[in-house]
Amino acid sequence: METLLMTTADAETGRPRTTRVAYRREENRYLVPAPDVEARWYRDLGKSPQATIEIDGVPHAARAVPFEGGVALHPLEVDAVRGRAIADQLLVHHGELRKALAAARAELDGHLPGESQALHRELLGHCVTFCNGLRMHHLREDGAFTAIEKAHPGLGPALTRLREEHEVVSRALLDLDKLLQGKEELESPALREEFERVAAGLEDHFAYEEANLLPALRGDGTMSRP
Ligand SMILES: [Fe+2]
Ligand SMILES: [Fe+2]
Repeated sequence: METLLMTTADAETGRPRTTRVAYRREENRYLVPAPDVEARWYRDLGKSPQATIEIDGVPHAARAVPFEGGVALHPLEVDAVRGRAIADQLLVHHGELRKALAAARAELDGHLPGESQALHRELLGHCVTFCNGLRMHHLREDGAFTAIEKAHPGLGPALTRLREEHEVVSRALLDLDKLLQGKEELESPALREEFERVAAGLEDHFAYEEANLLPALRGDGTMSRP
């Protein structure tokens, strides 16, 4: 049997989990046998059936459908109906992430200088939810972009830029996480500066993504033509 890399969202923390699993291809589906012993990825899919699978280095968004003896992974295909659903989902996720950013910013605003220890703790708490959610969102998008590009080749350059931004954001998030995990306490202004740098990058990214993808996905733009 061949193997593929599958990323699921951890059932408890939402953190991305990547596992190599064996599969058999059947038409346009990838059949993965159920694990002999309890496997975390199997439990993850029970909670959220959305996964990203990597085949020959290309990521694909996929939906898991259980069957007797295993899981069938159906790669995303973008048609008019699915395109509108993706557009709606993208806005919902961005809304949640914007709300989480605003909550973290309110936390920063509510702190006085000299309270950096409490601030660190609270921001770290935000990051656990927010950073995991954001990493998963971008991983799923990277998978969905493969199908979106196939349906709308004209979006190629915008998708290339968005993929690059995902990498920049994930590096910035890791830096912020390192700052928060670090032994050395940062003064509030430095922490604030780092946070604003990440937040500004993200807000631009969300705006660019919405402006470029939503019209094509909803079928009311001309951008899908190459
Ligand atoms: Fe994105
Ligand atoms: Fe996004």
